[in-house]
Amino acid sequence: MSPATPIPVRPPLTSALSGTTAVLVGGTSGIGLAAAVLLRSVGARVLLVGRDPGRLKAAVARVRDVEQAEGLDDAVQGVAGDGADEKILAEAFDRAGSVDHVLVTAGGISGSGPVTGLTADEIRTTVDSRLQAAFSAARVAADRLPAGGSLTLTSGSLVVRPLPGMAALVSAVGAVETLTKALAVELAPARLRVNTVRFGRVDTPLMRSMPGLDSDEAIAAAGSTAPLGRFATAEEAAAAALFLMANNYMTGQVITIDGGESLV
Ligand SMILES: NC(=O)c1ccc[n+]([C@@H]2O[C@H](COP(=O)([O-])OP(=O)(O)OC[C@H]3O[C@@H](n4cnc5c(N)ncnc54)[C@H](OP(=O)(O)O)[C@@H]3O)[C@@H](O)[C@H]2O)c1
Repeated sequence: MSPATPIPVRPPLTSALSGTTAVLVGGTSGIGLAAAVLLRSVGARVLLVGRDPGRLKAAVARVRDVEQAEGLDDAVQGVAGDGADEKILAEAFDRAGSVDHVLVTAGGISGSGPVTGLTADEIRTTVDSRLQAAFSAARVAADRLPAGGSLTLTSGSLVVRPLPGMAALVSAVGAVETLTKALAVELAPARLRVNTVRFGRVDTPLMRSMPGLDSDEAIAAAGSTAPLGRFATAEEAAAAALFLMANNYMTGQVITIDGGESLV
């Protein structure tokens, strides 16, 4: 058997993502939306997936407003639906035409509560929604991405420093980190790459939906306890995902962007 062709060598700067296409599952808000804007600003095409049609429409309009998108409406598309549903993901890939990169930021904070307070169904739903979404993205992407294509998943720093009442969510997200490594070795022969970004505290609509964090002042006060004196912006968090997409020698890694919070 002849050796497989090595993964292509290409410039690893994010500017080299120009001309590529990314599917952003959860790209209608927060970190995913910020990734869409960054990708569009370097000349990539994006397709956003989110469940709420109104939020999707607003997000597509927002990304189309990026300067380089003018007159190129097919450079920014949207598919409404659940990102854990393989049929929705297949529709997204079909609509995009060809896809080079997939970023999954879909997820929320449902499933939090003490382990004895959650029902068995709530635990199952929480674990399924996180882990199944990652599996679905991998199963659809594995057959369709080209050599050098990437899948980037999402976790959070609570995986290494859990808080009480987060057992279901944190264990599901921890499993996503493990899945990252398993998929990286399984898909390497196809020259596909799989990584995860582990986020610390990021100023997004999700963060602002938490009790007491619904104003700029509250976000600034909460962020002031962080080593760098504030939360990450969604754009800073998203830039970590773009790095993983662009660099063809990154696979099987969990990279943390938390402003040093896990060290203190
Ligand atoms: N912000 C933080 O501090 C932080 C920290 C650690 C980890 N994270 C993780 O990072 C990811 C992004 O967080 P964020 O702060 O950017 O959240 P966000 O602002 O709430 O954005 C999440 C996006 O995902 C979409 N979504 C949720 N479930 C989905 C599903 N099943 N299928 C398709 N789309 C779905 C949401 O839209 P619809 O509801 O309309 O579908 C929304 O557009 C999440 O997984 C979160 O748990 C965030």
